[in-house]
Amino acid sequence: MTVKVKINDADGNLLWEFDWEDNTSLSKMAEKNSIDIPVSCGMGACFACACKIISWSEFIGIWKISVPLVDLSVDENGKYKEVLTCVWWIKSEFIKDQDIHEIIIQKMI
Ligand code: FES
Repeated sequence: MTVKVKINDADGNLLWEFDWEDNTSLSKMAEKNSIDIPVSCGMGACFACACKIISWSEFIGIWKISVPLVDLSVDENGKYKEVLTCVWWIKSEFIKDQDIHEIIIQKMI
């Protein structure tokens, strides 16, 4: 299993692409790859780290390290349209195949 993460700037231009590290939040991975995603509370309470979800693989389970304290938008199917990068990561045990999965998120600012 490989999970590729792509982060776009607010205009939709690709900023960076990297492989997902297990048990690491999106904001921590972005920081390790020198991508500036603002983080304030670090616990899902302020929306500072929010990014738009452009695409998720349907096979990727999302695990929250804490319950977000702000309401996130959902689409008509109940899927999140935004992600709080400080409190979301992927648990690899949800992925049972050997495929390459891709996540694309876009910075809000
Ligand atoms: S930094 Fe506050 S919700 Fe992520």
